[in-house]
Amino acid sequence: MTASCSGIQSALDPAGREAADVATLFFVMLTGGAVIWAGVVAMLVYAARKRRAHSEKGAGQFILWGGAVMPTVILAALLSYAVWLMPNVRPWFQDEDGGLRRIEVTGEQFWWRVRYLGEDGEVLFETANEVRVPVGERVVFSLTSPDVIHSFWIPVLGGKMDMIPGRENRLALLAEKPGTYRGVCAEFCGTSHALMAFTVLALEPQAFEDWMSARRNASGAGDSEGLALFLKHGCAACHAISGTEARGTIGPDLTAFGERGSVGAGTLANEQEHIARFIRYPGEVKPGALMPHFGMLPDADVDRIATYLKGLK
Ligand code: CUA
Repeated sequence: MTASCSGIQSALDPAGREAADVATLFFVMLTGGAVIWAGVVAMLVYAARKRRAHSEKGAGQFILWGGAVMPTVILAALLSYAVWLMPNVRPWFQDEDGGLRRIEVTGEQFWWRVRYLGEDGEVLFETANEVRVPVGERVVFSLTSPDVIHSFWIPVLGGKMDMIPGRENRLALLAEKPGTYRGVCAEFCGTSHALMAFTVLALEPQAFEDWMSARRNASGAGDSEGLALFLKHGCAACHAISGTEARGTIGPDLTAFGERGSVGAGTLANEQEHIARFIRYPGEVKPGALMPHFGMLPDADVDRIATYLKGLK
């Protein structure tokens, strides 16, 4: 398989059951299309080389079989196969999703709010721009948005689903291969639509449970001076860090931020200097981001806050 068809963001290199069905459907359609194409080219060559004229009866038969019967049979077969496969590719779960783990993902401008829900729908904890799922367990994503339409897509796990203001769409996915993958926004949502990605970690069940309990008991402990500056400069008006006084809900939750794969929802690698750069001029890294810039703060303070955030585990 060519390089562009494999990797962390390829629907043709599936790591989940739904994505495997999508890939199978693609290859069946590709084969069907290739057979039709080869047939048409063969007839073209035959017609170009044939010297004598066709009889009227032969031409009529050819149009009937080649122009009506054959396309009808092939298209009906491919359509039947696709319709038969559809429930596997897009398993909607509306009322019968009892017992399945639920993760609520909200499309923000331009990042992802991720909430892990308990059995009664209560929020266990919140995170951002990162989704962790257990391997071998089907998870239901509840998808919505407060303002504009986004589309939630993890190509290696399955199909995409729109996030529409005022309603909740549900998408069930089953990861089968542990690994680190990439999800993206698949619906144009504004200037930073292309800078709206997230990390997907499919973990072995025990590792997933360990992470869940670690996240639920996160202390927020770290560089205390960095935390003091974070609070002093008002970061907590928008951001929360579990175990601290920071309880803002407008922006991404920053608990265990140091563990995340990126800064700014897939925009920059998670390095101290990138965090500092984002704090100073978010709009320069991510045009249209709602976070105001803090370039007026003393450099030493911004650097210290960035060091604190990078150290949060
Ligand atoms: Cu969000 Cu495109």
